Amino acid sequence: MPMERARKAPCQVTVCRGCCCGGPKVTGVDHGEQLARLRREAPVLVSDCLGVCERANVVVVRPSAAGRAAGARPVWLGLVNGPDATEDVAGWIRAGGPVVVPIPDILDLHVFAPPRRPPAVRPSKVRGTPRERKTP
Ligand code: FES
Repeated sequence: MPMERARKAPCQVTVCRGCCCGGPKVTGVDHGEQLARLRREAPVLVSDCLGVCERANVVVVRPSAAGRAAGARPVWLGLVNGPDATEDVAGWIRAGGPVVVPIPDILDLHVFAPPRRPPAVRPSKVRGTPRERKTP
């Protein structure tokens, strides 16, 4: 029964394509093919930088309806930087994803805790000194 629910409301995937993920800084992976491969398994949302560039390429797997009903939370995966890692993610999604199917050991190596806060504003984007930025 959980697999039926998983198929009706499947996992969703967020794929980071910000300043580092999906760019030339990350070698060894065909970024376009990675997106295409994941899109064959689940709806994919492409996001801007998720604030954890040191883990590029970052992929977040959101649970299916069955997974959510069983208490699953989104799973953040980092360093998804090769066809094997992409295939591991795709296979897990196809099987049911978070909570519905235990995460494979090899994929568990990519799991990390999501950042607690959204990315900070970069100093280069803030104009003026703190005193100048105050409004009267
Ligand atoms: S570009 Fe993906 S986390 Fe920053």
